Amino acid sequence: AADISDQLTDVLVTEEQIQARLRDIAAQVAVDYADKNLLLVGVLKGAVMVMADFSRALPTVAPMDWMAVSSYGAGTKSSGVVQIRKDLDEDLTDRDVLIVEDIIDSGLTLSWLLENFESRGAASVEVFALLRKPDAAKVHVECKYVGFDIPNEFVVGYGLDYAERYRNLRDVAVLAPHVYA
Ligand code: PRP
Ligand code: MN
Ligand code: MG
Repeated sequence: AADISDQLTDVLVTEEQIQARLRDIAAQVAVDYADKNLLLVGVLKGAVMVMADFSRALPTVAPMDWMAVSSYGAGTKSSGVVQIRKDLDEDLTDRDVLIVEDIIDSGLTLSWLLENFESRGAASVEVFALLRKPDAAKVHVECKYVGFDIPNEFVVGYGLDYAERYRNLRDVAVLAPHVYA
């Protein structure tokens, strides 16, 4: 395989740090949702890795659904326009939805999703985001579970892409600016 070390600068979050944090959050979610009608909703495609590991860290079975939305296309900046590429299969009526996301960047994707899900009759809608960039927020998103707050740099790996690449890296790392300049 090609050596991509010159395409990345710092590793911000390692595989081990991610897995340890997922175990803690899964234990907390299991307690918080013990008497609830939990439905995990992963946001494709970025949340694939976090959903796979987080859902398996839960001590109980939990139904899972997926929604595909995209606002970034092939660039590094959110267009602000959220497009539904695949809608949910499940009816949200009376469900306690926990949205599973890889990252809150500007917050535009999740603020749009929260409004969309609340309008479908869910009993509750909460967010688990593995990563959050506090300095990039354009809109406030209420997020019940956060894995790591990170600096405002373009990061890839563990589901996060640049132009569909780097999702399969195990760590979260900063993409070298020359790659997208
Ligand atoms: C990325 C990421 C989040 C969203 C966060 O998705 O996975 O869903 O952007 O950015 P925001 O807070 O500025 O809205 P993207 O639109 O790149 O689609 P993808 O998950 O298929 O990569
Ligand atoms: Mn995404
Ligand atoms: Mg993307």
